[in-house]
Amino acid sequence: MSTRAIVLAAGMGTRMKSAIPKVMHRLCGRPMLWYSLRALREAGVAEIVIVTNPQVDTEIAPLATEFGARSVVQDPQRGTGHAVQIALAALAPAPGTIAIAYGDMPLVTPAIFENVLAAVDADAGTALALVTAQMPLPSNFGRIVRSGAAGVAKIVEARDCTPAELAIEEMNAGIYAFEEPNLRAVIDKLTDNNAQRELYLTDTVELLIEAGRRVVPVVADDYHAVLGVNDRVELASARAVLNRALCERHMRAGVTIVDPATTYLEPDLVLGPDVTIHPNTTLGGATAVGTGSEIGPNTRLHDATVGANCAIGESVVVDARIGDHTHVGPFAHIRGGSIVDDHVHIGNFVELKKTTMRANAKAGHLAYLGDGIIGERANIGAGTIFCNYDGKKKNVTTIGADAFIGSNSSLVAPITIGDGALTGAGTVAIRDIAPGERVVGNPGRPLGASLARPVTGAD
Ligand code: UD1
Ligand code: MG
Repeated sequence: MSTRAIVLAAGMGTRMKSAIPKVMHRLCGRPMLWYSLRALREAGVAEIVIVTNPQVDTEIAPLATEFGARSVVQDPQRGTGHAVQIALAALAPAPGTIAIAYGDMPLVTPAIFENVLAAVDADAGTALALVTAQMPLPSNFGRIVRSGAAGVAKIVEARDCTPAELAIEEMNAGIYAFEEPNLRAVIDKLTDNNAQRELYLTDTVELLIEAGRRVVPVVADDYHAVLGVNDRVELASARAVLNRALCERHMRAGVTIVDPATTYLEPDLVLGPDVTIHPNTTLGGATAVGTGSEIGPNTRLHDATVGANCAIGESVVVDARIGDHTHVGPFAHIRGGSIVDDHVHIGNFVELKKTTMRANAKAGHLAYLGDGIIGERANIGAGTIFCNYDGKKKNVTTIGADAFIGSNSSLVAPITIGDGALTGAGTVAIRDIAPGERVVGNPGRPLGASLARPVTGAD
């Protein structure tokens, strides 16, 4: 029997005061809804239906695709019970268990879903298990009214509570596992006889008990893990909790994080042992960092692959690959699919865009290197510009191995500088330069033998 899930995400989220649907607000690089979907998938749920409204539906489409989920639109939104009616109508009836969760709980873990799903037991007459938590003054949450030690009698919404019920400190988290046929048997019996004139999913508890079924609580260890996000203050709190958990996971796996409070991580990073992350550093997307590398401070890596024993400080690396033993920064910007090999040095105020830099090449200071290929051991002097754009299209600059590009050279692409060639300071090179050839001036012309200077060895 398969396990299915319904995720409710049709609410307007008015307290976010935003044009963006609540469940699409991001924390640690992913929309809130992403976390619920991932936790359900990791808990082994095979089929997921997301209940959306017409506005949310288009925005969540990429997420639904990522998790192989589908969406159904609830319009108008007449309450959580109504949302589940719409989802069930879109699912062919099947025996088995169905999890129901709200899409605004980014801290929920797979274990919470596993535990609640495991607590449903048709043979013992348990048709519903629901996650509860002890919480001081549970403000707007539904209150759990117990029947004996192990059962739930009903859930009362805060607005419908008597003063005695309001004093209950066990809250309804909003995570349920139903035996599906029993859910279907009661879902159409809900009424809107309550303060909000809505169909409450929580009223299924009393309906199931009337039908002779049992409802059991699964008490969460820590209520923080099941708190829904309703406004931007709660979003920031949830982000801090999530970020701390991500940092702890990597620290326990052998990464040194000097200051977790100013290290900003996203899920799915691959960080090797003995990586050190210095303060004020953000690592996101599909980023991987190899053993022993030092990242930061004040650095951002996104969709970046960094090899072993590198040092990248005060720099931005986005959509790029860096080899081993390479040094970047301070104040470098590497992007656009650039590939930097081993033992390369890239210093301050150097920008690489879609450029390959082969092993032992150097660009120490002040350069724009766009659409280029730089050979092994080539030295790029301060102030070098690859003039890659002719106003219509981008052109490639190719620099051979051991070439020496003098300070303040402008290389007008498309252009090829041969192996071991040299440009003198201030050269504007507008034609290819042959291997070993030396040029200087504007436009660059062959350099007299008496003006020759060493090809290598500059810092
Ligand atoms: C709900 C529970 C409450 C619980 C709390 C936990 C009910 C009646 N109450 O209250 O017991 O303590 O969550 O956070 O279920 N949604 C829809 N369609 C609708 C209405 C809501 O999809 O018509 C979605 C929302 O997008 C949201 C979720 O259901 O993700 C919960 O709705 P919300 O209005 O936030 O319910 P609460 O009042 O917080
Ligand atoms: Mg809520």
